[in-house]
Amino acid sequence: MVPFLRILGIETSCDETAAAVVERDAEGHSRILSDVVLSQLDEHSAYGGVVPEIAARAHVEALDELIEQALARANVSLGDVDAIAATSGPGLIGGLLVGLMTGKAIARAAGKPLYAVNHLEGHALTARLTDGLTFPYLMLLVSGGHTQLILVRDVGQYERWGTTIDDALGEAFDKTAKLLGLPYPGGPAVERMARDGNPDRFAFPRPLVGEARLDFSFSGLKTAVRQAAQEIAPLSDQDVADICASFQKAISRTLKDRIGRGLQRFKTEFPVAGEKPALVVAGGVAANLELRGTLQALCDKNGFRFIAPPLSLCTDNAVMIAWAGLERMATGAAPDALDVQPRSRWPLDSKAETLIGFGKRGAKA
Ligand code: KG4
Ligand code: ZN
Repeated sequence: MVPFLRILGIETSCDETAAAVVERDAEGHSRILSDVVLSQLDEHSAYGGVVPEIAARAHVEALDELIEQALARANVSLGDVDAIAATSGPGLIGGLLVGLMTGKAIARAAGKPLYAVNHLEGHALTARLTDGLTFPYLMLLVSGGHTQLILVRDVGQYERWGTTIDDALGEAFDKTAKLLGLPYPGGPAVERMARDGNPDRFAFPRPLVGEARLDFSFSGLKTAVRQAAQEIAPLSDQDVADICASFQKAISRTLKDRIGRGLQRFKTEFPVAGEKPALVVAGGVAANLELRGTLQALCDKNGFRFIAPPLSLCTDNAVMIAWAGLERMATGAAPDALDVQPRSRWPLDSKAETLIGFGKRGAKA
């Protein structure tokens, strides 16, 4: 028997304002009672990226209403929730302040405990809600702000096995799209163009492939794309399609090598018989079908289960924040004091060193 827990989650670390209610009953069955997300995409797309000040203001305008909606859709009142979980980092500080202060105010007014949640922990634990995964497992987080391979040992126990030494993968897609004249966000646009392109026309670099360390690097790839584009300018639609297809192929091959090594390491460190080990993917780039296919094939080859939660739970949302709060509360962890501060940088693995150039765009996920 586990305690029945119902949590209100709040997420404001980047450009999605979100609130959700999640519960787990005494038999261990979990349910998403509501999941409300307001994307600010339209407000940022004209600038080709997220503008922190605009994001913070948009969170202020939307959050109260979204929380009310989340409670109403869940058919509960504040009195019916056991705790409030709010993202307190990493991310854009203005947005974090809005969400965390709101969480504190509600916790204080309703007399409920507050859990200040690490956004990355939300991503890391989502697969336990969606797929009932048991520890340990590997997680690949590929978003606009992060590219990390993380060993998830237990609630609160994370080891970063690999990270990017320069651009995040989503960032590489966005920058490549921009220099090819494609709209923001770049990932979906590049994927769409790549469908009609020749992946073998350009031999783009596959950074760090073959190296024993499990890190990633994508800035050289972006530079190679720029050079190729300049050499054949002006670009026809077919040229753009060929560049996109070749770019995606280089990334696929890079992931195959890097993640393949990660799976091998996992099997060496956790040689368990019985249930198959699992690789979980999260973050906006997980929407990319070619990359998903690559990871699925890699997992099949190595005897791993490939777990990709529904896209709405892979990208930023408050369900994962409520769930991470629930998991922490269920371990008996004490809630946070109401003077807890937001942290724009907050690595999941506090022992992992910061790599040169890592997180240039801020530490958002
Ligand atoms: O996790 P996410 O929604 O937001 C944060 O970064 O916080 O990820 C957004 C990133 C963007 O860089 C976007 O270009 C990328 O995910 N993305 C994709 C695709 N859809 C979104 N990248 C590659 N292929 C896609 N289909
Ligand atoms: Zn995220």
